[in-house]
Amino acid sequence: MTFLQSLVCTACSAHHDPSKRQTVCTSCGKVLAATYDLETARRHLRRESFDTDRQGMMKYEPLLPILHRENLVSLGEQTTPLLRLDRLGEELGIENLWMKDEGQLPTGSFKSRGLAVAVSKAKELGVTSICIPSAGNAAGAAAAYAAKAGMECWIFIPEDTPAMNIKECAAYGAHIELVQGNISDAAKRMAELKTVHPDWFDVSTLKEPYRLEGKKTMGYELVEQFGWTLPDVILYPTGGGTGLIGMWKAFDEMEKLGWIGRNRPRMVSVQSDGCAPIVKAFETRARTSEFWNNAATCASGLRVPKPFADYLILDVLYKSAGLAVAVPDNRIQDAIKKVAQREGVLLCPEGATAILALEVLARDGTLKPKDRVVIFNTATGLKYPEVLP
Ligand SMILES: Cc1ncc(COP(=O)(O)O)c(C=O)c1O
Repeated sequence: MTFLQSLVCTACSAHHDPSKRQTVCTSCGKVLAATYDLETARRHLRRESFDTDRQGMMKYEPLLPILHRENLVSLGEQTTPLLRLDRLGEELGIENLWMKDEGQLPTGSFKSRGLAVAVSKAKELGVTSICIPSAGNAAGAAAAYAAKAGMECWIFIPEDTPAMNIKECAAYGAHIELVQGNISDAAKRMAELKTVHPDWFDVSTLKEPYRLEGKKTMGYELVEQFGWTLPDVILYPTGGGTGLIGMWKAFDEMEKLGWIGRNRPRMVSVQSDGCAPIVKAFETRARTSEFWNNAATCASGLRVPKPFADYLILDVLYKSAGLAVAVPDNRIQDAIKKVAQREGVLLCPEGATAILALEVLARDGTLKPKDRVVIFNTATGLKYPEVLP
């Protein structure tokens, strides 16, 4: 079923037992990542066997951490479309421009990938209650998958989270606490309450090891859709960074499986100028970020003042000869409108930041006309009626 081997700390390399519930490294407090027996997997898995009619992230189950199929909690995740953006590409002088539209997943955002795997693994480990601080979409996905699994779900979100996120969590029957401030304040409040609720299992971004495994499937899918090759550049709206780190992990695993070579895309983190800790750190080639005070952006998923895994995000950017770009928050609505009218896709504000970064990088010559460029639209714009132009 799975080639899961261990959980290894991304900072101190300590090993942790995956048959037990784990959150962060108990030695140093940093992010844990799942490892697989890729030597054996290489002998058993052919990439062509994934290139079939079977759709969706769960087909990569040998490279996901769930031991027994009956524990998979699925809402019918499909392979998300890789759309060619011809009209926009022509306008910007980029011949091969693509968008991976994650808005077509259950719960309308890519957060479903991570939470599908985290909730499945939690179920396998006997968890009955999960808790999560969130900027919105992760909360919606946690609430939906917890409902499907028959678990309790405790949500901590900023009081100004988009209304749709709050409503969806309520509809799924989650317990919701609205917190004054941002996701960091929500995390603090959750930590206070967790001391009196030791049974809650914390599925915070990268403080639980398996959301990353779900998110890495974006990388597997993308490479499969590109005929087992890699694009040249990926633009990714970055908050906590799970997707970026996950895709990079997927590429490394695929190389070890013998499915791809050593080439890697340039990874570009896109943030709003209202909250850009990764961009600021990147500009000074720092290894970690600093807390961004008074974070404010209508791209609510990007309002993460200090990502817990900043060191991993920055590492990917440096290793891939990538970039970090901040775009003006007040241009997000224009970008949504432009893509809706040119390409028929309603972007989320986070996805719109990637379009704004694309425009900058196309104009300043960073992107070459022949580059194969992929931008990620991480949710459907339908979840953000208050931001739509
Ligand atoms: C729509 C959307 N895009 C992007 C992000 C940032 O995702 P990541 O944590 O993978 O950086 C979020 C996170 O909340 C989100 O909801």
